[in-house]
Amino acid sequence: MESRQSYFEKKQERFQELCQRMLAERRLIVASNRGPVDYTVAPDGSLSAQRAAGGLVVALSPVSRFIPLTWVAAAMSEGDRRLAEESGGPTRVPLPEQEIYLRFVVVPRSVYQRFYSVFCNPLLWFIQHYMWNTPRTPSIARPVYEAWEQGYVRVNEAFAQAVVEEASGNKRTPFIFLHDYHLYLAAAGIREALPDAPILHFTHIPWPGPRYWSILPEFMRREIHEKICSADIVSFQTMRDVRDFLVCCEEFLKGVTVDHRACTVARDEWITRVTYYPISIDAAGLCQFAVSPEVQHYEESLSQLRREITIVRVDRAEPSKNILRGFRAYDNLLDRYPGLHRRVVFLAFLVPSRSEVSIYRAYARDLLELAETINGKYGDDEWQPIHVFYEENYAQAVAAMRFYDVLLVNPLIDGMNLVAKEGPLVNTRDGVLILSEMAGAHEQLGEYALSVCPTDLEGTVRALASAITMPVEEKRRRATALRRAVQEEDITFWMQRQFRDLMAVSRRRH
Ligand code: G6P
Repeated sequence: MESRQSYFEKKQERFQELCQRMLAERRLIVASNRGPVDYTVAPDGSLSAQRAAGGLVVALSPVSRFIPLTWVAAAMSEGDRRLAEESGGPTRVPLPEQEIYLRFVVVPRSVYQRFYSVFCNPLLWFIQHYMWNTPRTPSIARPVYEAWEQGYVRVNEAFAQAVVEEASGNKRTPFIFLHDYHLYLAAAGIREALPDAPILHFTHIPWPGPRYWSILPEFMRREIHEKICSADIVSFQTMRDVRDFLVCCEEFLKGVTVDHRACTVARDEWITRVTYYPISIDAAGLCQFAVSPEVQHYEESLSQLRREITIVRVDRAEPSKNILRGFRAYDNLLDRYPGLHRRVVFLAFLVPSRSEVSIYRAYARDLLELAETINGKYGDDEWQPIHVFYEENYAQAVAAMRFYDVLLVNPLIDGMNLVAKEGPLVNTRDGVLILSEMAGAHEQLGEYALSVCPTDLEGTVRALASAITMPVEEKRRRATALRRAVQEEDITFWMQRQFRDLMAVSRRRH
């Protein structure tokens, strides 16, 4: 059988060839709120760059290894602002083997604050993850109107302008690849200046149905749906999102024709194609990293905590990840099966996130408290049933994913959830994946996982018990199938499909 390495090498070669064909047609400009690196100002006043947290930089790294790309991103930190001021134009980012030219979008701090901390997170994020407690929140009061007018609209205009500037001076207008909920209005501004640009917008998070979108005032939701349709391709993680988007367009936009079979939205001569590309991971890169000395070091240090059965979870400390219910399910399991005491341990790797939003701070506090309660209830000097690692340490999390017996991924709703793909790829124990039906990854992997409805606490307890008692053969069958699915549909697959579709748009525009 072909080795994993040569399988990946062949795949990379095919991908490299596609990237080069693409570049021969047009250059590529990527735009997203967070860029590939964050700059910080050290106490001595010097600037230093760190690779940004988040999946997009990982997702695009196989591309930027093969072709140069320009990345337009917001200057989020003081360091970013300073770099933008000092450089006066795009700078090559200091990431090894990658050719990325970063162009920062700089807007006044108050504008950015309204955009990021009032409109995008929480308002849009909470709508798109069904997280509002609608009898009480949100209230779309004047600050939200201001955040729209003086934040969201202005930042999107500034992004459109920066992309247009970066695109100018090329013989052919570049391919433009826009990302996520921060930039729903940008395609329209770009289209006005560059009518022939092939534009693709990819939304990483779920798209709710029209009733839930109606939390937003009519003019805001209409403008979002209208302007995103200026892209040639509007894309999502799953078919479910595509269906909901089409229904939303039908309800919110006048004068458009929505074709649910062809998945298009047409207005006059303009046709927007709506599709899905499930995002994935850099499988080749992760397999290499998983056997690196850094990961091995953590595998050794964590080995002291392991028990006969190790349950693992890895998440941002984010309310939509449903971490509290996951802990409660474990509490119920220990209560019901005393025979498991001392034989099982739960390791939770939680990355601090968005601490500027009070709901996130409260959530992080509650889950640390609940873990303590569980330890107080069942633990003793020799055994702590649950260990929470509340820190950003990717190598440590990968180390734990190598040896889990059960991986619990139970988000309330999630665009994709890459942990559900990383875990099975690096795991060496034929561990069982428990996966929420509401994670985008469920469309691809649900068949080989134990599915749970995320609010179903009892169902989650039973899934944990079944995972623990699953026969070895059955575990192996599922783990092998999961690994194969992730390897086949890795990040190059995600990019390939988008590149091909963008090239088809480009050719029609010849
Ligand atoms: C998650 C989501 C992305 C989103 C990002 C924003 O990773 O999956 O879709 O862009 O959060 O996080 P940030 O820290 O950049 O605000």
